[in-house]
Amino acid sequence: MQTITLLVACVLIAAVSCLQWTTKAPMIFKRSDMLAVTINGRLYVAGGCTRDQSTTGGNCAATNTLEYYTPSSNTWTQGASMTVPRFRHVAINQGNNMWVIGGRDASDNLIYSSEYYNTQTNTWTTGPSLPADTATSDGYAYNIGNIIYIAGGYSQNYNVSASVLSLDTSAATPAWTLTNIKLATPRGDLGATVIKGNVYVYGGFSFDFTQPLKTVEVLRNGSNQFTAVPNMSTARGDAAEAAVGDRLYVIGGETIEDGTDGHNHTLTIAQVESFDTTTNTWRSEPNIPDSRMRYGGNAIGNTIYVVGGQRRNTISETSFVVENTVFALDTSSASSAQAATISLLAIIVCLILNF
Ligand SMILES: *[C@@H]1O[C@H](CO)[C@@H](O)[C@H](O)[C@H]1NC(C)=O
Ligand SMILES: *[C@@H]1O[C@H](CO)[C@@H](O)[C@H](O)[C@H]1NC(C)=O
Ligand SMILES: *[C@@H]1O[C@H](CO)[C@@H](O)[C@H](O)[C@H]1NC(C)=O
Ligand SMILES: *[C@@H]1O[C@H](CO)[C@@H](O)[C@H](O)[C@H]1NC(C)=O
Repeated sequence: MQTITLLVACVLIAAVSCLQWTTKAPMIFKRSDMLAVTINGRLYVAGGCTRDQSTTGGNCAATNTLEYYTPSSNTWTQGASMTVPRFRHVAINQGNNMWVIGGRDASDNLIYSSEYYNTQTNTWTTGPSLPADTATSDGYAYNIGNIIYIAGGYSQNYNVSASVLSLDTSAATPAWTLTNIKLATPRGDLGATVIKGNVYVYGGFSFDFTQPLKTVEVLRNGSNQFTAVPNMSTARGDAAEAAVGDRLYVIGGETIEDGTDGHNHTLTIAQVESFDTTTNTWRSEPNIPDSRMRYGGNAIGNTIYVVGGQRRNTISETSFVVENTVFALDTSSASSAQAATISLLAIIVCLILNF
């Protein structure tokens, strides 16, 4: 009896001390190919694809719906819909507003329009359109002060872009401008984030869609040239991301597997790794509970949320299944390395006590 009690205690200690992803309330709508934006302690998502997609292409039903997550009640609430259904757009916060820019329509044509959602008034306002010659889908937006930037992405015909566009939202008449900054590697399906004024860009695809990138580049505050920093350990596109303190988390995403059937296949991955921007080092983090790509992630305080996306774990699955799942990781609990050590110690102590 005592042994059993001790064993149960051992297992509990080991389980609790491990940093783990948990599952939260699902979104109201299944969606992929959209991003998630944190504003005033809530997570906002708008647009995306709502239909499972055949692995042989096409078949996306673009949505215009918006919903937001409130952590304290673990609930999703639907807000006013965008005027334009879109997917593969960028989304970014500016004060109380969530901007959504560009993307594609259900016929896979580029969308040039932008609009922003005021989280206080639950209303959308039309913003300036992207210039037709430099517009992309599948880029990634970041902001510095009042300025929104869009890095990389794909042209109408899926040529890869190295461009960085900017929009000063505080200007009397805001307009998109092509900056003189270029990514070192042109890429789409990338991620980008700003930590302490430095812009980190990672992953995605360049001209070869059979080879996801593991390269990472940084635009240091005040510089106009991206330079290389250490690579991720897992090459990937379409990952979700979150920044917590000095650390950038890259979560899940898309990989390509060279199948024994003579074809390359798009698969999803569950691996998570984080980059410490003070030491320029990557470390691995606990996997998400199920693999995902083409989805959104962001942090609220120390907790990271990743929402929706598509899933295809093995080549035998013939579609990319759209999900409404929400996974969360509280990064303020022990780090994964600490957790592993604590678990091991707990198990050893328990085993000793048992004898
Ligand atoms: C594709 O984009 C690259 C720059 O990212 C450019 O050098 C090249 O000319 C473009 N190709 C086509 C066919 O437009
Ligand atoms: C970036 O550099 C500018 C000019 O030197 C400085 O004012 C600003 O505080 C820096 N930003 C960050 C986040 O360090
Ligand atoms: C990153 O990987 C690429 C190949 O994918 C390699 O050419 C490059 O040297 C690596 N960069 C660093 C900083 O390790
Ligand atoms: C799959 O991708 C690999 C890596 O780029 C390439 O060597 C191979 O030829 C591709 N296979 C097919 C069938 O396209």
